[in-house]
Amino acid sequence: MISSLLYSSVASTHVDSGDVFAIIEESARNNPQRQVTGFLIYDGREFLQYIEGSAMALESLLNVLSGDYRHHSVRILHRAQREDRLFPKWKMRRAGLGAEDELAAIYHADLPNEMRAEIERFGAQRKAA
Ligand SMILES: Cc1cc2nc3c(=O)[nH]c(=O)nc-3n(C[C@H](O)[C@H](O)[C@H](O)COP(=O)(O)O)c2cc1C
Repeated sequence: MISSLLYSSVASTHVDSGDVFAIIEESARNNPQRQVTGFLIYDGREFLQYIEGSAMALESLLNVLSGDYRHHSVRILHRAQREDRLFPKWKMRRAGLGAEDELAAIYHADLPNEMRAEIERFGAQRKAA
């Protein structure tokens, strides 16, 4: 079984796109060993990250992540389980909110409705800001 989870967090004040690039690089380097895949959305203020893998891999990553100074207020929005991965090729895909083609792949995936709703809410918040 593959576990998945979606969480949001608030970026630390000094975080810029260079930091986000570094986070993606670290993730792409580490996640294959952890056998974790997923995507990360950053809207300039908050992160929304989807991760999938074994239950143990997710807990261990969550432990590391929670202590990362580049964000705070980690809030788990939804957890799910399924037979297989939704994003087997994404070591950690950065998805931009403005880039509709990137988001299309996410919207087309068979995500639980609760996760889809959270992602849409995240995008709508951004547009309203
Ligand atoms: C929003 C956010 C998402 C992150 N996602 C991942 C991830 O998917 N995989 C990962 O290994 N590290 C991720 N990190 C970084 C970890 O917190 C940690 O800094 C990193 O794994 C340490 O890598 P190192 O031991 O190779 O230096 C993320 C950090 C932030 C702030």
